[in-house]
Amino acid sequence: MRNGKDGRKPKRWLITSALPYVNNRPHLGHLVGCILPGDIFTRYLKLKGENAIYICGTDEHGTQSEIAARNAGVSVDEWCKKMHDEHEKDYSWFEIEFTRFGRTSSKTNHEMTQHIFLGLYENGYITEKETEQLYCEHDKMFLPDRYVVGKCPYCGAETHAGQCENCGKLLEPTDLIDPKCVLCGNTPVVKKTKHLYLDLPKFKDKLETWISGNKHWKPNVRNWALSLIPDLKPRPITRDLKWGVKVPLPGFEDKVFYVWFDAPIGYISITKEWAEENGENWEDWWKSEDTRLIHFIGKDNIPFHTIIFPSTLMGTEEGFILPYDVPAMEFLNYEGKKFSKSKGVGVFLKDVREMPYPPDYWRIALVNMMPETGDTDFTWAEFAKSINDLADAYGNLVNRVLVLSRKYFDSTVPKPGEFNDRDNELLKLIETVPDQVARELDSFKFREALKKALSLARDANAYLNAEEPWKKENEVRRATVIYLTLNAVKSVSILLKPFIPKIAEDALLRLGVENPSWEDAKKVDLKPSTKLGSPVILIKKLSDNEVKKWEQKFSGRNVEGVKMVGQIKYDEFAKLDIRVAKVLKAEEVEGSRKLIRLELDVGELGKRQILAGLKRWYKPEDLEGKLIIILANLEPKKMMGMESQGMLLAAEKEDDVVLLAPEKPIEPGAKVH
Ligand code: MF3
Ligand code: ZN
Repeated sequence: MRNGKDGRKPKRWLITSALPYVNNRPHLGHLVGCILPGDIFTRYLKLKGENAIYICGTDEHGTQSEIAARNAGVSVDEWCKKMHDEHEKDYSWFEIEFTRFGRTSSKTNHEMTQHIFLGLYENGYITEKETEQLYCEHDKMFLPDRYVVGKCPYCGAETHAGQCENCGKLLEPTDLIDPKCVLCGNTPVVKKTKHLYLDLPKFKDKLETWISGNKHWKPNVRNWALSLIPDLKPRPITRDLKWGVKVPLPGFEDKVFYVWFDAPIGYISITKEWAEENGENWEDWWKSEDTRLIHFIGKDNIPFHTIIFPSTLMGTEEGFILPYDVPAMEFLNYEGKKFSKSKGVGVFLKDVREMPYPPDYWRIALVNMMPETGDTDFTWAEFAKSINDLADAYGNLVNRVLVLSRKYFDSTVPKPGEFNDRDNELLKLIETVPDQVARELDSFKFREALKKALSLARDANAYLNAEEPWKKENEVRRATVIYLTLNAVKSVSILLKPFIPKIAEDALLRLGVENPSWEDAKKVDLKPSTKLGSPVILIKKLSDNEVKKWEQKFSGRNVEGVKMVGQIKYDEFAKLDIRVAKVLKAEEVEGSRKLIRLELDVGELGKRQILAGLKRWYKPEDLEGKLIIILANLEPKKMMGMESQGMLLAAEKEDDVVLLAPEKPIEPGAKVH
């Protein structure tokens, strides 16, 4: 275990995982990027007997939550609570053991955020500036980062403001070239508003010294962080929104802090909540040099965890510790594509929970695909291979040695004789592999650590095959070989415990081992005549057919609720409200190459307007007076600043488009079914 720069061993380990956005439906990418590695690492520390806690929770403030709650017709708090609970359920299914899974909207976090802000304010790290912000005249609001799209001035990519999705540079909405409001597509205007800024340039020297001294960081994390320092500008930390932490300064009553200001403070508040419930002092965890803080994050979060949050903490001058390391993961894609909820691409944790595989299968597969040094791909082939390899190397070994023990020694640990050279080789491996695995884990190389642990299982298998204890005439040799193999299985099981806690524990219990420590993995110490459990198939292999089935099911063609083969239930069809409508008026939409605006009479449903891309095929005046068919209950959509309230039905073939019409005149509003 690495000691600190001053050579001291930490007394406490504070492990955090980036707080997931409450509105995101968690998928395998979220899990593999920080939550699973944080869990494996914390479990490993605990096995080593370290005092470690694992802190996470939902990141809840901001516009996204406001909108989602409005759509669901509930209060924002209610919405966030429900989503928070779902996140928690998903992660606990995966055997993620958070010490506490909190919420950034908690009272503790509101208080902590205001307290930290006031510290920064009193110490002169907050500046106030009247700025020109993008304001959408149509939606009557200042546009938050995510609501403005345009071209990145650095790399030219299309992105939303906040952080360029392509090059990762931090972007103010006004930095974007040709900005547009995402709600309505209009070009926003610039309007004056007053905001508070964190004076980042004041931290340049301290950041530079601190980050360049962190030679143990992954090079990409350290280099990226260092590259941001020269361009640091004061960064706004307030927003014109409602759902968030109130700004405790006169003149800012109708503003809240920017989510990225209060979210990382959530790490502190959630620790504090846990501490208060468990008779601990939270300040021991956040303000003591004896605590080692590790932030597990995805790579897109690097600027916030290496520059902005550390500056926030330094600026309080309250003695907060800074992270010892920030192990950032790259991204996991799904079969070559980005995970996407709307396109149905990827595997979401909710889907996973309905599949016939226990959590450890997913954990092992995700470790093998962990994007530690570059982006990786989730593939079903790799998923199956991970499980099948684990079954061959480990599951099979556990079963074999238990079968042999039952057959020859009535399911008890046999008493070994003298060790020969071959025995000593295996003994040596048992004594040395655990340290090798630990070294990999200490530097967050989870894939390598797993490989090393499994290599011990493979070597034990090879040993068993070479010794063939089932052929032995000599009862003492047979006992020795089985004894050593049982010990090797114990050792591997302990090493695998952080990765596959349930399966490893099952194996250990069958060996009569309870609550082992990491050090126990190095020992050949099973007591002869201990009762053993019965043999078991711990890991079931996956067939090619199974793999194919999942590949198809999750290929992204199936939109939620629609069956794969393309058939739908009558109920699903019945949800469509299709009507006859009469065109009262039609005109070209100015500035659009395609759109015609139609005013329609839909009988009992009243009048409404629909925008349709028909310019190439119809002249507006030819449409007036016609009866057409529309889908009336389609969600309204904004186009060119106007709302389209439904959709016309038309037939299309090659380059031709024709509108559908009733075969004989009928009253507008008539139902189609
Ligand atoms: N919610 C953010 C994301 O998913 C991460 C927040 S991390 C925290 O990208 F430090 F702010 F909590
Ligand atoms: Zn708008």
